[in-house]
Amino acid sequence: MSETTTQAPGIQAPGAPAGSRDRYAVIGNPVGHSKSPFIHARFAEQTGEPIEYTHLLAPIDAFVPHVRAFIEAGGRGLNVTVPFKLEAHALATTLSPRAAAAGAVNTLRFDAAGIYGDNTDGFGLVRDIEVNLAMPLKGARILLLGAGGAARGVVLPMLERSPHTLTIVNRTAAKANALVEQFGDAARAAGCRLTGGGAEAIGPGVYDVIINATAGSLDAALPECDDRAFGSGTLAYDMMYGAQPTVFMQHARRLGARTSDGLGMLVEQAAESFYVWRGVRPNGALVLAELRRMLTTPTAT
Ligand code: ATR
Repeated sequence: MSETTTQAPGIQAPGAPAGSRDRYAVIGNPVGHSKSPFIHARFAEQTGEPIEYTHLLAPIDAFVPHVRAFIEAGGRGLNVTVPFKLEAHALATTLSPRAAAAGAVNTLRFDAAGIYGDNTDGFGLVRDIEVNLAMPLKGARILLLGAGGAARGVVLPMLERSPHTLTIVNRTAAKANALVEQFGDAARAAGCRLTGGGAEAIGPGVYDVIINATAGSLDAALPECDDRAFGSGTLAYDMMYGAQPTVFMQHARRLGARTSDGLGMLVEQAAESFYVWRGVRPNGALVLAELRRMLTTPTAT
C-alpha cells in the first residue's frame, strides 16, 4: 500500500478535553497527503478511545530528533511512513517478530519499557484480502511481484496463512532469491512451497492471488508478468491506490481477473496499529467504505 493521493486534517476524537487525550501521529516526508489522521479519528470515534492523531513532517536527516521530541512532549506512538521505516527499525529497542522479518517498522509505541517497533503492513494486506475481499489465502497459489521493502514486509504474514505456494518474482532476480532464502524456514514451517527469481520463475497455470508490490504503479509502469498467470478466478491486488485503477489493475481486468487496489490495506494496517497502541480493534471495513467514497468523489470531502 502506498498513499498516492490527497489530504486529511488532523482530527481530534470527540468527548475528551484536549489535555486528556493521548497523542499519536504519522511521521514522514512528505506526509501532508496522508489519510492516517482521518482514519484514526474515525477509529477513535468508533471505539471511544481518547486520542488525538496528527501529521509530523520531519526533515529527511532529522527523523530521530523529531521522534525524541515527540516522546518528550508526551507522545504515545507513531505511524512511520516513507522514507523513515528503516530508521524506525533501527531506533526501536524491541521489535515484534514481523517487524524483524520485514526489516522495517511502520508502528512505534512508547512506554516505560522503551521504544517498541512493529510492522502492521503485512497484517493489513492479509486482512484486506481475506476479510474485505473474501479470498482465503490458506491453500492458495500466490504470486508476489516485487522484492523491495514493500514486498519483504508482507511475506511472513502471508506465509502464516499457509498458502499452497508463494512465488516471488522481481525485475532484479537476485533480490527475489534473497527473500526466498530469508523466508525458507518460515515457509517450511507453514507447509508452503516458496520459490522465486525473475519472470521465468512464474509457474504454469493460473494463480489465485497476484500481488503487485513493485513501485511500478507510481510511474505507470507494468511489472513483467506472464499473462497466463491471470484467470477469471484470480484476485489481482495492487498495493498502490489512487482515484483511478492502476495500470496493473487495468491490465489484469483485460485478462479477466478481479482486481483491488491497496486502500483496504492502508485502512487495515492502521486498524492493527490502533490495536497495538490501544488494545482495542476498530472496524476497518466501515472506514474503508467511507474513504472509498471520498476517493471517487473528491468534492464530497
Ligand atoms: P518499496 O519500499 O516501495 O518496495 P523499493 O524497496 O525501492 O521500494 O523496491 C521497489 C520494487 O519495485 C523493487 O522490487 C523494484 O524492482 P528492482 O528490485 O528490480 O529494482 C520494483 N520496481 C520498481 N520499478 C519497477 C518497474 N518499472 N518494473 C518492475 N519493477 C519495478
